[in-house]
Amino acid sequence: MKVLHVAAEIFPLVKTGGLADVLGALPQALIGQGTDVRLLLPGLPPILDAVLSPTLVCEIGAVFGAAKVRLIRGHMPFSHVPVYVVDAPYFYRRSGSPYQSSSGVEWPDNLQRFALLGWVAAQLAAGELDAGWLPDVVHAHDWHAAMACAYIAQHLPTRAARVFTVHNLAYQGLFSLNDFHLLGLPGRFAAPSALEYHGQLSFMKAGLKFANAITTVSTSYAREIATPEFGCGLEGVIQSRAGCVFGVLNGVDYAVWNPEHDTGIAAPYSADQLDGKALCKAGLQAEMGLTQDAKALLFGVVSRLTSQKGLDLVLAALPALLQAGAQIVVQGSGDSALETAFIEAAKNHPRQIAVRIAYDEALAHRIISGADSLLMPSRFEPCGLTQLYALRYGCLPLVRHVGGLADTVVNASAAHLEADQATGFCFVEASAHALSVAMHQAIKLYQQPGVWQKIMRRAMQQEFSWDVAARSYLDLYKRLTETMRLPVSP
Ligand code: ADP
Ligand code: GLC
Repeated sequence: MKVLHVAAEIFPLVKTGGLADVLGALPQALIGQGTDVRLLLPGLPPILDAVLSPTLVCEIGAVFGAAKVRLIRGHMPFSHVPVYVVDAPYFYRRSGSPYQSSSGVEWPDNLQRFALLGWVAAQLAAGELDAGWLPDVVHAHDWHAAMACAYIAQHLPTRAARVFTVHNLAYQGLFSLNDFHLLGLPGRFAAPSALEYHGQLSFMKAGLKFANAITTVSTSYAREIATPEFGCGLEGVIQSRAGCVFGVLNGVDYAVWNPEHDTGIAAPYSADQLDGKALCKAGLQAEMGLTQDAKALLFGVVSRLTSQKGLDLVLAALPALLQAGAQIVVQGSGDSALETAFIEAAKNHPRQIAVRIAYDEALAHRIISGADSLLMPSRFEPCGLTQLYALRYGCLPLVRHVGGLADTVVNASAAHLEADQATGFCFVEASAHALSVAMHQAIKLYQQPGVWQKIMRRAMQQEFSWDVAARSYLDLYKRLTETMRLPVSP
C-alpha cells in the first residue's frame, strides 16, 4: 500500500501546533505496519535545508505564477521517512510561519502557494512527476493540502483514493472568488456544489467535497462538526457526507514526550518512581520566580493564545486561583489582548503568576513536567495533544468536556475515583465559574497526596499509541482501495 501524506507542517522542522506533531509521528507508525509512506511538503526554508540526500525528481517549470518550480526527493532528518519537497523559491523561501509573515499578516498569495501543494500531489498521483512511485492513497491534512482532492477529482479516473483529515475546521483557507481563475480548474469547480462558500472560495470545502473519506482527530469532534455549534458553517457539507466521516484519535510520540527519558527536564521520573517530579516542580518555580512551595498547586498552560483555547476563562478565574493559594505558569503566544492581560496579571502577582509570551519547545517540556495540573479550557478541541503529553508527565489535565479532551480525560468525580478510573478534571459549561469550580476541586484533592498520586500514576500509565491510530488509518485505506466508490465529481 503506497500512501502520500500531504501537509504544510512537520515536527521538528516547521510547527505552529499539533498538526506538525501528527506529521512527525504518524508516517513512521504507518511504515512500522508495512505501509509504503512518502511525504509531500512545501519547500519552506527549514524543510529544504534539512532534507537528507536531496535529489532532483523533475523540473516542473512555471506554475501558478511562480517560475522555476522543482520537485526534490530525499529523506526526513531523524525519522528517514521518504519525502518529496516542492521547491518553489518565489512561494516558499520566506521567513515567518507557513501561513503568515513574521508580523502576523497572512501571505497575500496563500491561494497560489497552497493550490500548488495540492496540484503537485495530484500530478504525483497521476504519475506525471515520478512514474516510479504511484500512490494508492493521497492523504491530505487540513485546508493547506485540501486542494489535492479537487485536482485529483479533476483528472478522474485516477487510481488514488483521497483521504482528507480535518485537524481544525475553524481554519478554512478562504479566498476571493474573483481569484478562481488562478487555480486552473474548470468553471464547474467554482459552483456551490464544489469550492464556492458564501461568495468565497474555500479550500477546506475542496477537501470535504472531493475526498473519498473524511477523517478527523477524535470521535467526539467527528460528531460535533456535523452540528451548527462546531461546524463553522460547514455542518451541512459534513452532514451530506454522512457515512464517509470517521474519527481517528491522535497518538503521542513517546520518544519525544516521556519523563523517564526526557533529558530537558530537571530530573527524570516515572509512574513507579515519582521523586523527580518534585524536583521538576521546584525547578520550574525557581525558573519562573514563583514562591518555592511544594504544597501550592501549580497549574500550567502551554497553548496558542486564541479564542479556541478558552484562556479568557483562565484570566477570569485568576482571582479565585490566587485566593486559594495556587500558582500558575502560562506559556503561549497569539492574541495580543490575551498576551497583555496575562503579562499584567503576572506583574501584579509575580510570586503566584508567571507568564512567558513565547513559542519554546524546551520550556513546554519543563512546564509540563513541573506543573501539577495542565489547564485546557478549550471552547472546541478537535483532539488536543498537550493534554495527552500532560497525562504521561503526571500533570493532571483540567479540561473542558469537549472534542478530543472529552475522549481522553476521565473526570475525578466520586464515581470515577471509586472505580479507579480518574485521570484528570473536567467541566462542561464554558464559563469562568465552571472552570473555577473544577480548579477548586483539584486544589482540594491536591491536599490529599495519597489520592493525588494514585491519579497521577493512573494518568501516567495511559497509552495513546500512534500504532492504534495507524491501524485505523490502514484499515480505512484498505477499505477505500478495495471498494473504491464511484469517483466524486462536481
Ligand atoms: P493545537 O494544535 O490546537 O495548537 P494541540 O494540543 O494539538 O493544539 O497541539 C499543540 C502543540 O503545540 C503541542 O505540541 C504543544 O506542546 C505545542 N505548543 C503550543 N503552544 C506552545 C508554545 N507557546 N511553545 C511551545 N510549544 C507550544
Ligand atoms: C489542531 C487542533 C488540535 C489537534 C491538532 C492535531 O491544531 O486544534 O486539537 O490536536 O490539530 O490534530
